[in-house]
Amino acid sequence: MSEQWLAPKPPRLSAVEMTEVVLPNDANPLGNMLGGRVLHFIDMAAAVAAIRHAGNPCVTASFDSVDFLTPIHVGEACILKAKVTWTGRTSLEVYVDVHAENMRTGERRHTTTAFTTFVAIDPVTGKPAQVPPVLPETDEEKRMFQEAISRRDERLARRSHKQ
Ligand SMILES: CC(C)(COP(=O)(O)OP(=O)(O)OC[C@H]1O[C@@H](n2cnc3c(N)ncnc32)[C@H](O)[C@@H]1OP(=O)(O)O)[C@@H](O)C(=O)NCCC(=O)NCCS
Repeated sequence: MSEQWLAPKPPRLSAVEMTEVVLPNDANPLGNMLGGRVLHFIDMAAAVAAIRHAGNPCVTASFDSVDFLTPIHVGEACILKAKVTWTGRTSLEVYVDVHAENMRTGERRHTTTAFTTFVAIDPVTGKPAQVPPVLPETDEEKRMFQEAISRRDERLARRSHKQ
């Protein structure tokens, strides 16, 4: 792999903003978006950021605990923002922030946050592939990068208990 391929990349180059309109089929009988649909959209937004950053296909390795703070209703827009916060050798952490938007008024509510981990895969060998290091630029990106190290330790400890 060339050096240029693995040159450090700032999170803004792979950041994702995704908008989905919540339809009746996405909701429970109360008209609230199903948690599983929210997770699906989180997975999609995070995967796009991970693949953009890695330049390779990526698989979901882990979802940290997800809190559904407020419901999202049918007819609202679900706005997802995903950003790479940390990179290891072949894995990446992607933070996803979810808001509900009343499209007529523009009012937004914060509904969900999630930290996800993806692993880049070499399409030829099917084995984990090296990823470019992330280069945090803003104060918030630098803080999230530092904090990611303890989140990663917790994930790997959980994983080793399950194996
Ligand atoms: C994720 C997966 C590729 C890891 O494969 P593996 O053979 O265990 O690979 P390794 O042990 O070499 O780990 C590779 C990287 O993944 C990280 N990793 C693996 N499992 C992890 C987990 N549960 N949480 C966080 N990181 C994890 C390792 O720390 C390592 O990171 P690093 O290279 O940055 O140090 C493999 O477990 C897998 O295919 N899982 C199923 C993925 C899937 O089907 N997802 C849903 C559909 S996309």
